Amino acid sequence: MTSQQRRCVCPGSYDPVTMGHVDVISRASALYDEVVVAVLHNPAKRGTFGVDERMKLLGAALAAVPNVRIEAFAGRLLVDVCREAGAQAIVKGLRGDTDFAYELPMAQMNRHLSGVETVFLPGDPRFGHISSSLIKEVAAFGGDITGLVPEEVRAALVARVQNPEGS
Ligand code: PNS
Repeated sequence: MTSQQRRCVCPGSYDPVTMGHVDVISRASALYDEVVVAVLHNPAKRGTFGVDERMKLLGAALAAVPNVRIEAFAGRLLVDVCREAGAQAIVKGLRGDTDFAYELPMAQMNRHLSGVETVFLPGDPRFGHISSSLIKEVAAFGGDITGLVPEEVRAALVARVQNPEGS
């Protein structure tokens, strides 16, 4: 990849990846030469899935998207990740007003810190009700999450519900 090429970062916890994430990353991949999917995590917190499993699930979910690179970053500022990746933009999806209110100050702070721009893509209404936390809650009580997450994620969540000790 040359310096002329356009690269963006799609950051998130991805704990776990949902169809909403897959939609935004796939659309970003059509706009940029390369998408760095950055799994940002706090090393002091385990999360539901460990980072290795989040990466594995992302890899399976994005297998058909050619220009995607998945990387994990512990305890790092997003602007430093963007600088290191040589990314000109951060791409995020917005499901609605609540997301916008949450994302706007972060976009402004990131631009203040390094000049990096944030590009917002309107969320696909099919996925407007999906979040990683809601998916985990529904799955924990035996609800059907088919179609809301990639099949590998659905299987991993069902396996955890059936065998909580194994996770
Ligand atoms: O999937 P999430 O949990 O909504 O992702 C939030 C994330 C990881 C993108 C955000 O918390 C973040 O950018 N963290 C990195 C630390 C950082 O740069 N914080 C300052 C943001 S202005």
